[in-house]
Amino acid sequence: MEPVEEPFAVAAGDVPPGTGAGDPRPAWEAWPMAVQINPSILSADFARLAEEAKAVEGADWLHVDVMDNHFVPNLTLGVPVVESLARATETPLDCHLMIEDADRWAPQYVEAGAGSVTFHVEAAAAPVRLAREIRAKGARASMALKPATPIEPYEDLLPELDMLLIMTVEPGFGGQAFLDIMLPKIRRTRELISKHGLELWLQVDGGVSAATIERCAEAGADVFVAGSAVYGADDPAGAVRALRSQAETATSVASWFCGH
Ligand code: DX5
Ligand code: ZN
Repeated sequence: MEPVEEPFAVAAGDVPPGTGAGDPRPAWEAWPMAVQINPSILSADFARLAEEAKAVEGADWLHVDVMDNHFVPNLTLGVPVVESLARATETPLDCHLMIEDADRWAPQYVEAGAGSVTFHVEAAAAPVRLAREIRAKGARASMALKPATPIEPYEDLLPELDMLLIMTVEPGFGGQAFLDIMLPKIRRTRELISKHGLELWLQVDGGVSAATIERCAEAGADVFVAGSAVYGADDPAGAVRALRSQAETATSVASWFCGH
């Protein structure tokens, strides 16, 4: 008897892995253009970080905001907390360093167990050397731009990076309003990534929510940090799923994505 073909069967490889479709790998491992949602623990309960990490299982990365009260007017956590958190969760850590002297400190966050380390270009004396050091130590190297920092001077540095973070608020605090004026910079950065044929992830951070995520995806972002929109929700894991689905839909019709 002929095998009956299932009319809606999805061919292997057609579904992003790690998104509940049966592939246990994280989405980014085998699906470079996948949408990623990174909840920011800045909006979580710091006395219960391990539980708060568990509450967003299914997220791609856990975004960890490190602030030193010098680069930004706020103070959060440092290397020992990252070390403990890395041991307490299976979700890889995306460490966003809002600290001065990034050249000195960033490598220590790789040693602490972060899978991705983001330094601010405004705080790095030698960004190329630092990105190479982060990669050599085994983590993904990422560089962040504050709202007033343009992308254009860094075009030649992009191949040195695994991710670029465009801040969509002034860094320092969760719960701020999304800066729409950053959308052109996201668009221009996506154009540079395409122009050079890079597999560089483009992250947005600050004010990303159900109300703003589609605009970010449409402009070219593919990694979305969300603090208050996830941890302020009654069901944080549900909020991650909802944000992912909004971003996926917006990406699928975005002009920058068509043809991929
Ligand atoms: C702000 C931090 C963000 C913050 C985002 O400086 O870098 O990661 O947690 O919080 P929301 O999503 O609430 O704007
Ligand atoms: Zn952040």
